[in-house]
Parts: sequence; structure tokens; C-alpha cells
Amino acid sequence: MRDVVLKLSVLLCFGLALHGAQAQTLGLASDLSNESQAGKALVVSREGQCTLCHRIPDHAGAMGDLGPSLGGVATRLSAQAIEARVKDSRSVNPHTIMPPYFSTVGLSHVDPKFKDQTLLTQAQLQQILAYLATLK
Ligand code: HEC
Repeated sequence: MRDVVLKLSVLLCFGLALHGAQAQTLGLASDLSNESQAGKALVVSREGQCTLCHRIPDHAGAMGDLGPSLGGVATRLSAQAIEARVKDSRSVNPHTIMPPYFSTVGLSHVDPKFKDQTLLTQAQLQQILAYLATLK
């Protein structure tokens, strides 16, 4: 009988350890990838400007609310819809106040220095989209 109890408790410990390991793996899986981490850094940076108008989940800095919170945005919108918004929000709302981050069309008062340059590079755009896709 003692033997059985011992075996059972060994099994139980093993089970718990396994469960712990699994939980850890799941935790790691939900962590941000390098690309989306870079995207989050951009989104909360002055350079990205997003926090002027949007609340960002798990970010403690000052944030504006001229636009909707980006919390859960990947549940509300498809990847394509998010991409269209970030590239050029005028495609959805011609009167939007959100800057077109990946378009040089129809802009006025652009400093000649920045003519034909998008606000974000292709790589930065991909990083931001990778981060936004994690906001479920
Ligand atoms: C000057 C304000 C402003 C800035 C800066 C801004 N946005 Fe927006 N954004 C808005 C507004 C307002 C909306 C709501 C729709 C509209 O009116 O265009 C919006 C909508 C969105 C949406 C769709 C959200 C939803 O739930 O429908 C996404 C995604 C988004 N913005 C991402 C960004 C990202 C990423 C940045 C930074 C790179 C950014 N925005 C910067 C104002 C802004």
C-alpha cells in the first residue's frame, strides 16, 4: 500500500512538473516575437506618434483618445483592414485625422526634404502590423 501511495505521489509530482512546463511553453508562445516587439516599441515611441491618439494595452505612458483604443484591434478588424488603416486611413475615412503612414499621395505642405518619402519604412510597417496582430 505504501508503495502505491509513493508511486502515485511520484506520478502526481511528475504531472505537476509537466503541467508547469506546459504552462511555461504556452507563456512563451504568447510572448511577443522580435518583430512585434520592435513594432510595439515604434507604436509607443514619439516617432510612431500612435499614442497621441490611441490607447495601447499594457503601456503606462501618456496616451490620447482622439482615436479608438488599439486594445483588441485584431479581434475587431482583419489583418487586411488593419494594414489599410495604417498605410492610409483615408482609404476608409477620407476625413480621418490619422496620418497616412505609408502613402505619399495627396499630401500638402510637405517639406521638399521629405517629398515622396513615406512616414514609415516598409520594415517598420511590417513590425507595426506584426504587433497589432497580437492585440486580440
Ligand atoms: C492624429 C491622430 C492619430 C494618430 C497619430 C494615429 N491614429 Fe490611428 N486612428 C485615428 C482615428 C481618429 C481613428 C478612427 C478612424 C478614423 O476616424 O479614421 C484611427 C483608427 C486606427 C485603427 C483602426 C482601429 C479600429 O478599431 O477601428 C488602427 C489599427 C490605427 N488607427 C492604428 C494606428 C497606428 C498603428 C498609429 C501609429 C503608427 C496610429 N493609428 C496613429 C487617429 C490617429
